[in-house]
Amino acid sequence: MSETPEEPAGPRRVIGTPSPAPTAVDVAPPPSEPAFSAEPPALRHAKNAERVAAALFVLAFLAGCGFIAAYISLEVGIATLPKGADPVVAALRSNMALGTSLTVALLALGAGSIIWVRHLTPDIEIAEERHDLNSAPADRAAFKKDFAEGAAMSQITRRPLLRRTMLLATAPLALAPLVLLRDLGPLPQTDLRHTVWRKGLHAVTLGGLRRLRPADMSTPGSMITVIPEGYQDDDNALAKAGVILIKFAAGELHVPTNYDGGTLVSTMNWTIDNIVAYSKICTHVGCPVALYEQTTHHILCPCHQSTFDAANGANVIFGPAARALPQLPLMLDSEGYIVAASDFTQPVGPSFWERG
Ligand code: FES
Repeated sequence: MSETPEEPAGPRRVIGTPSPAPTAVDVAPPPSEPAFSAEPPALRHAKNAERVAAALFVLAFLAGCGFIAAYISLEVGIATLPKGADPVVAALRSNMALGTSLTVALLALGAGSIIWVRHLTPDIEIAEERHDLNSAPADRAAFKKDFAEGAAMSQITRRPLLRRTMLLATAPLALAPLVLLRDLGPLPQTDLRHTVWRKGLHAVTLGGLRRLRPADMSTPGSMITVIPEGYQDDDNALAKAGVILIKFAAGELHVPTNYDGGTLVSTMNWTIDNIVAYSKICTHVGCPVALYEQTTHHILCPCHQSTFDAANGANVIFGPAARALPQLPLMLDSEGYIVAASDFTQPVGPSFWERG
């Protein structure tokens, strides 16, 4: 069975008649003018820029080759070094060669690219018109129609029993996230406002759990971390109760020393024998403030460099912390040991804790 060849699509032409006029599809559109001229305005200047950029690219090429050559030729492995060669010197030489060649390659490539863009490409600003974000009215009507048809087909409008029981079924699931909040633990109540420090509680050294007398800090400028006695194994309590004791020389500590943020709120002197106690928990986000510079009396938080002036109520003098380190009132017990006179009078730690 022989196959008939497919006839070409399109209008039939009877022999002898003129060929049909070309349709719009067949006609090539006339070349349109480019929106912007690709030619730089100053041709001579452009030529110079081209030469400089090309020289930089050649330099980048050579430096790149140098990098590869240095990597291959400069050995640093102890096993592959010649006998007697110093591995430290070899590594230094290799690092210098690799670093220098890579630096030159990248700098030259970047400089050449900048010159190209700044001196050879047209300096124009192009703004794209903002389009209407609304859907066309026809699209909106089509969506509305589809939605109505879909709702009708799903029967949700016709079968109230199904609709209501389905909504009932989803209600517990909607409430479930609220129930799961229980797993966050009990509400903090007033815990964030208080620590375990109370009147008469001894301050003991963090390392040896030793009670302290003022005479134990006889050297001005010394700083020591203390914790409340009996809480050394209570991580939750220690998270807020860490305290630093700082000993000042006579006349260095400025009384009053009690600040709330930047505001002086009391003229009480809570120090003993020029020893002052501040919370060790930074009021920014709670890092331990562990660095003390005794010549300037600055307490530094290593996390984000908040700096507190220990001689002036640990007021903030630099950094993101928003308020002073709370001060722990001190007193002596009947045997002359340092004890707390009360809890802190402000919340310790990050400033958001005192809200709410
Ligand atoms: S936690 Fe101390 S400065 Fe951020």
